[in-house]
Amino acid sequence: MCGIVGYIGPREAYPIVVKGLERLEYRGYDSAGIVLYDGKNAQLCKTKGKVADLKAKAENENITKGNIGLGHTRWATHGVPNDVNAHPHYSNSGDLVIIHNGIIENYGSIKTALEKRGYTFQSDTDTEVLVNLIEYIKNKEEVKLGKAVQIALNQVIGAYAIAVFDRTKPDEIVAAKLGSPLAIGIGEDEFFIASDASPFIEFTNNAIYLEDEQMAIIKLGRDVKIREIKNDKPVAPFVHELQLNLEQIEKNGYDHFMLKEIHEQPEAIKDTYRGRLRINEGIIKMAGIEDNLEKILKAKRIIIVACGTSWHAGLVAEYIFEDLVRIPVEVEYASEFRYRNPVITSEDVVIAISQSGETADTLAAIKLAKQHGAFVFGVCNVVGSSIARESHAGAYTHAGPEIGVASTKAFTTQITVLTLIALKLAQSKGMISKTDFHKYLAEMEAIPAKVEESLKVDDHIKYISSVYKDSPNFLYLGRGYNFPVALEGALKLKEISYIHAEGYPAAEMKHGPIALIDEQMPVVVIATKKGHYEKVVSNIQEIKSRKGKIIGIVTKGDTEVKSMADYVIEVPETIEGLTPLLTTIPLQLLSYHIAVMRGCNVDQPRNLAKSVTVE
Ligand code: AGP
Ligand code: GLU
Repeated sequence: MCGIVGYIGPREAYPIVVKGLERLEYRGYDSAGIVLYDGKNAQLCKTKGKVADLKAKAENENITKGNIGLGHTRWATHGVPNDVNAHPHYSNSGDLVIIHNGIIENYGSIKTALEKRGYTFQSDTDTEVLVNLIEYIKNKEEVKLGKAVQIALNQVIGAYAIAVFDRTKPDEIVAAKLGSPLAIGIGEDEFFIASDASPFIEFTNNAIYLEDEQMAIIKLGRDVKIREIKNDKPVAPFVHELQLNLEQIEKNGYDHFMLKEIHEQPEAIKDTYRGRLRINEGIIKMAGIEDNLEKILKAKRIIIVACGTSWHAGLVAEYIFEDLVRIPVEVEYASEFRYRNPVITSEDVVIAISQSGETADTLAAIKLAKQHGAFVFGVCNVVGSSIARESHAGAYTHAGPEIGVASTKAFTTQITVLTLIALKLAQSKGMISKTDFHKYLAEMEAIPAKVEESLKVDDHIKYISSVYKDSPNFLYLGRGYNFPVALEGALKLKEISYIHAEGYPAAEMKHGPIALIDEQMPVVVIATKKGHYEKVVSNIQEIKSRKGKIIGIVTKGDTEVKSMADYVIEVPETIEGLTPLLTTIPLQLLSYHIAVMRGCNVDQPRNLAKSVTVE
């Protein structure tokens, strides 16, 4: 998600922290801020916008002095991007200041409890709640900052990489990590904190990477003490001697942002259902749905509008919604919907799906829907984006910034959000048994590990890519929930390797495309055990008998397709409705490796933009 940078040592912190934030810009962000301590006063400057805007504002306000500094680039999750919601955040007394990367799921209940004790809040963020919880504990228990942070973090649920500073005790910074990355640079009598090593690699290549549920007390001119948050036990720090260069650090060691984002999917899916999937309570919590439940359940029809990969996620949603919620669903290309004079009524619910939240056609489609009185629900990845703001309500995917033009983690997190919505509506309508509902929740919670397992066959996929990288055409076939995945797999290949590829419902072959089959034609067939398996097997036989080359995406342990296909790629078994979250993984890797082998620019393919903000 965003970036954090800290410095404590003998030098001026401002240039180090600001340059560090610039080094982290690749991570994507919407706001930036800095706080400096000059031995007497703490000075804070923050703004919506870019690091360049922060620099201009700080230098204009002469906020550039101090040997201790914390800097932050925000990727909003709670509270739209604006100056007030930007980090750092002070506690009520003004003594403590925090920067935070991640999500505090239970910030609402903590905020209420603090308000009852007289705390007030300037921003809408979860982060400001955390710094005031730390202050409340520090004052109530009369403990030092480190202990207060440790106690507070045992009360929060969520993900965090934080740095906290107490200006009444200006010789230390306390950092802590769970879920979001945090590195500590060890210099000569100086220390650095950052989301990755890029802000301090030019000063030192000695780094401690905090593990989950660890915290660090960094003392000026002294040392770094690491402790476990849960039981407050000391941990012997392991200091890495880094050999990475800047570019390698930005891509976390991966060759391209796309590959990094493919591998981020387990965490991105977890971040997306975090706080929403309450398995112990047997509920799904989604304020955007709960606040509009009656209106949505009364809908005569759900219209999904989107483009590209987001449109494919919409197709998966059509299968899930009609299967579970029994409300008719239509999936529309936004670019067609906006111009074809569609019939829209106030009894329609329109779901707009968009990673960027800025796609012009999708934005135009929901404006048209609103003119006809429809209720619009947005599923976006960018908080405060145009489509998010134009929608009546919504739910964010928490995939973090997606830098690669080809959508990968956006697709799987969109399906995650849409599945949670469908399950919540089905439960509210009494359309799903308690057992099946719980089974779905448990399986959704197991999906990140199954995605991780699906990523492990990368070498095998790389080999298959080498066999077919020069094929002039590909066909992708799937049935049921995996028909949209076939379309998505074909789009991935097209857009980054420039090979022509088409996706089809497997049964559609005999209505024309089978004429294309010959030994030059690789056919990727999604043939998981769930959903029309036997019918897909007969489709494979039809292709085989015409000398087509078969790459089967199969359920782990499958032998039948394995005996027929030229190659198979296994994915773990799951509920039919969740198979798209797994079957899409090998197709992402296949397109990635073929594109790399063909020397294509994987992260910025020719003719494409990450967000199509024009018609
Ligand atoms: C998919 O890999 C492409 N990046 C493209 O099709 C994209 O999905 C489409 O432009 C929609 O973008 P959005 O999700 O930001 O609205
Ligand atoms: N959840 C915090 C916020 O919305 C931090 C988000 C981030 O990681 O930048 O401000």
